[in-house]
Amino acid sequence: MAWVKDKLVRDAPAQDRSVKDDSTSAAETPGALGTKVSPPAGAEIAWNVERVRADFPVLRQTVNGKPLVYLDNAASSQVPQVVIDRGSVYLEHEHSNIHRGVHYLSQKATTAYEGAREKVRRFVNAREARECIFVRGATEGINLVMQGYGRKFVTAGDEIIISAMEHHANIVPWQMLCEEKGARLRVIPMSDAGELLLDEFEALLNEKTKLVAVTHISNALGTINPVREIIDQAHKYGVPVLIDGAQWAPHMPIDVQELDCDFYTFSGHKMFAPTGSGVVYGKAALLEKMNPFQGGGDMIKTVTFEKTTYAELPNRLEAGTPAIASQIGLGAAIDYLSALDRAQAMAHEQELLRYATERIEALEGVRIIGTAREKASVISFVIDDVHPHDIGTILDQEGIAIRAGHHCAQPVMQRFNLPATARASFAFYNTKQEVDLLVRTIEKVIEVFS
Ligand SMILES: Cc1ncc(COP(=O)(O)O)c(C=O)c1O
Repeated sequence: MAWVKDKLVRDAPAQDRSVKDDSTSAAETPGALGTKVSPPAGAEIAWNVERVRADFPVLRQTVNGKPLVYLDNAASSQVPQVVIDRGSVYLEHEHSNIHRGVHYLSQKATTAYEGAREKVRRFVNAREARECIFVRGATEGINLVMQGYGRKFVTAGDEIIISAMEHHANIVPWQMLCEEKGARLRVIPMSDAGELLLDEFEALLNEKTKLVAVTHISNALGTINPVREIIDQAHKYGVPVLIDGAQWAPHMPIDVQELDCDFYTFSGHKMFAPTGSGVVYGKAALLEKMNPFQGGGDMIKTVTFEKTTYAELPNRLEAGTPAIASQIGLGAAIDYLSALDRAQAMAHEQELLRYATERIEALEGVRIIGTAREKASVISFVIDDVHPHDIGTILDQEGIAIRAGHHCAQPVMQRFNLPATARASFAFYNTKQEVDLLVRTIEKVIEVFS
């Protein structure tokens, strides 16, 4: 199968075909740990956006007769050709069920699937691959922790702390748990800029707190949260912390050891991989104590009608046939990202954010929701007297894809007293010309409704 490898190497990202030294720690790239991600003033950005765009076939199409401008990356990012090809290679040459087979194809598929897990381990800098559990996405990752950890360890009178800017995926499972157990959900409030009030967080922590679950980046506001401080603070009370990294993973390196988080979860489809892929990292000591998430094949050691004993990690938490093709695709997406200069990618995104913010802020009647000092490349905005759905529809007519709605974060909308916002979210393949087009079309929207 040497040709497969050759093909994948040949199709490696146009940006940089050099293979990076695996020993490079994620923490060496700016932004790995803290919240400061913007490049220093005057820093030169050497990012060849046109070359990177060439890696993404979907970006070549027209929509409504106009070149596609894809600004809905916070919902799902696009998939580079190498990742598409890796999926095809699997389906054409390796497709089979994993772990239980002794035959050639099953071993091939198992090697590829477990190889993807090892890539994830390096991507998040986990100590061991068994700490990286494959799930369908961040939602399933959070539910796995809720079912496995929460249902076992949370009892009546306990408290779980989340934040005011969580996606529903990091609210509803904890609410369900609290209802079942008679526990209490506490919420870290935020300022009008969309920054968490850390003093209030400290005041919420006490001996009843059983878990803190917060987002690394708000999908609705773009705020980058100081998760390291949150983790340190929670650990002073011996409280484990789950970080929802769905919005962080596509943009910046992750180092779970440096962060010292107890759980970290993200979705593949937001980081250039297929849907159905994702990961929840957990410290081995915690994962080992947890109840299995689901029961079924592959997660057992022995089964009799009287009793079942469970397999070791990670299988114990992965019942049934997983999304093999998707997780192998996630491995390929990690290879793709690792071959890019991520610091430059991040600097480019931050420059897009700066430029778009400046231009949108200058428009009369337009208001940006979420003005935190540290933000990812997400801009939520509203226009006086125009429903966000109308903004989204008019932009779509011009080939511009944004998202309009509550972004699965209704409490954020309530906090800002809004039914919805329009949201443009940028990836490293977006350009300043696309920002210009966005702004011109917003001006059109204003004109139509004036
Ligand atoms: C911050 C955040 N958390 C969780 C999720 C849920 O991700 P998924 O639907 O891929 O499970 C999303 C999706 O938008 C998100 O933005």
